[in-house]
Amino acid sequence: MAKKLKGIFITLEGSEGCGKSTQAKLLCSYLKKRKKKVLHLREPGGIKISERIRSILLDVKNKSMTKECEVLLYMAARAQLVDEIVLPALQKGMVVVCDRFLDSTLAYQGYGCGVDIGFINIIGKFATRELKPHLTFLLDMPTHKGLSRILQTKDRIEQRSLKYHNKVRRGYLAIAKKNPGRVKVIKANQSREKIEDCIRGYVEKLFKI
Ligand SMILES: Nc1ncnc2c1ncn2[C@@H]1O[C@H](COP(=O)(O)OP(=O)(O)OP(=O)(O)O)[C@@H](O)[C@H]1O
Ligand SMILES: [Mg+2]
Repeated sequence: MAKKLKGIFITLEGSEGCGKSTQAKLLCSYLKKRKKKVLHLREPGGIKISERIRSILLDVKNKSMTKECEVLLYMAARAQLVDEIVLPALQKGMVVVCDRFLDSTLAYQGYGCGVDIGFINIIGKFATRELKPHLTFLLDMPTHKGLSRILQTKDRIEQRSLKYHNKVRRGYLAIAKKNPGRVKVIKANQSREKIEDCIRGYVEKLFKI
């Protein structure tokens, strides 16, 4: 990357309904109270072009979408997000908290759909400009329990089989094993407060506050 980044990039990962969005919100409020300049984003989406790609990706009507198309659309949404908003915010020294990032594509399309992991990593480098999170929280819990927390109509990915979602979960755990410094696995089947405390502990260590 050309310019030195002053900011901090934190991502939340995990399978459906594990509490990513809940914890991202709690973390952002906490950081704001700590007078940090915070940008809260979600993937796929976060900005206009990427949100439009999101609606194609999650639309249950797109039953015939191939896994190749799916990977490239996720990467396209990510490339736009990184360039348009994440990198400028990090260059300004902000804390960027993102609900999902490249690990999601590795887990869902790589481990889940069987797309070559090496290929995802190569195209991932292109889409992210080699940006890596400083910290990633993997909220892990039995897949069926997470899925049962989702009350609204399930989107195209959520509708996939339990077998698929279990592959995604195992994929995430494999990613965590490969990246122990960056990826912190947190039991998601405990209270919001306990998870929040655990996340704060790691973030405080990172900021040395
Ligand atoms: N620790 C928790 N214990 C019990 N319920 C929780 C907990 N954390 C979140 N929830 C509830 O579970 C549901 C899913 O949480 P949330 O939307 O944060 O998960 P998510 O990982 O973002 O899901 P998705 O994968 O669908 O985006 C919400 O109704 C939320 O209020
Ligand atoms: Mg969410």
